[in-house]
Amino acid sequence: MSPEQLQSWSADVLARVESALGEWVPTSAPAGLGEAMRYGVLDGGKRLRALLVQAAAEAAGAMGTDAGREAALRAACAVELIHAYSLVHDDMPCMDNDVLRRGKPTVHVAFGEAQAMLAGDAMQALAFEVLTPDAGEGAGVSPALQSRLVRILARASGQAGMAGGQAIDLASVGRALDEATLRDMHRRKTGALLRASVQMGAACADLRADSLAWQALTEYGHAMGLAFQIVDDVLDATQPSDTLGKTAGKDADANKPTYVSLLGLDGARTEAAELLAQSLAALSRSGLEARATAPLAALAERIVHRDH
Ligand code: IPE
Ligand code: IPE
Ligand code: MG
Ligand code: MG
Ligand code: MG
Repeated sequence: MSPEQLQSWSADVLARVESALGEWVPTSAPAGLGEAMRYGVLDGGKRLRALLVQAAAEAAGAMGTDAGREAALRAACAVELIHAYSLVHDDMPCMDNDVLRRGKPTVHVAFGEAQAMLAGDAMQALAFEVLTPDAGEGAGVSPALQSRLVRILARASGQAGMAGGQAIDLASVGRALDEATLRDMHRRKTGALLRASVQMGAACADLRADSLAWQALTEYGHAMGLAFQIVDDVLDATQPSDTLGKTAGKDADANKPTYVSLLGLDGARTEAAELLAQSLAALSRSGLEARATAPLAALAERIVHRDH
């Protein structure tokens, strides 16, 4: 799949995701909370996690039924809600203290710290509400699939994943971590949610956890998730703020251990390239048709070769 084909495939997916999020993130929450939530979630970001859910669902064969498509759309929106919540909290003064996100003032700058904290809390809750629709609204997403999706996302968001990684990140300021500890931090804080995106897409096709395809897709997500944060570290050190839409050079300023501080720019880039090769090799071993996994392969290339 060429970059142009990926672009047109993505545009289609993103239109559906954006429209569903616009509908599900409420305007009517009390005391301005809905406004803060919509500001933090809508019209922003590359939506790579949503694209990974949809690409994995397509690769695994979930998109042939209404229920599979509905589940994949809900999973794509849910992971973007968790991700957006993690960014709102990550930017707060008690964490990274950032004022710019997705080219706009951060949520706490625009709405105040208490409202930013609550907007993040409410986004997290909404993610799980979106995954567990009433019989009337969910087009037949089975209770078994709902609970499988909830478990994958919860596990990747909590102490075993994002929140745990963020705790290590904050505890590591000013310290030089060894590679194994840094890798563990990155896999949790960022990798877990990317891997979960791929697994949720695969779950929408009811792939069994002991199947070759599930294991290969998990391996793809595992490698890609770490590569994603390594590239984030590289971009922080190499791109200007207006390209990133967030303040550049923050990791060095805040004295954070990163792949760049540990291995240097060339070392970090080599590691990301190696992980890209691993994720593509996992797709080849999946037993799925190359045509079906083409969007996943193209997304992996994009994740490693992006400039923001
Ligand atoms: C940024 O993620 C935060 C990290 C986990 C490194 P993205 O680069 O995916 O952010 P958006 O969603 O495109 O803004
Ligand atoms: C954030 O990592 C990971 C999250 C869980 C949000 P960073 O702190 O490096 O993300 P950016 O660079 O602010 O987007
Ligand atoms: Mg951070
Ligand atoms: Mg940050
Ligand atoms: Mg960063």
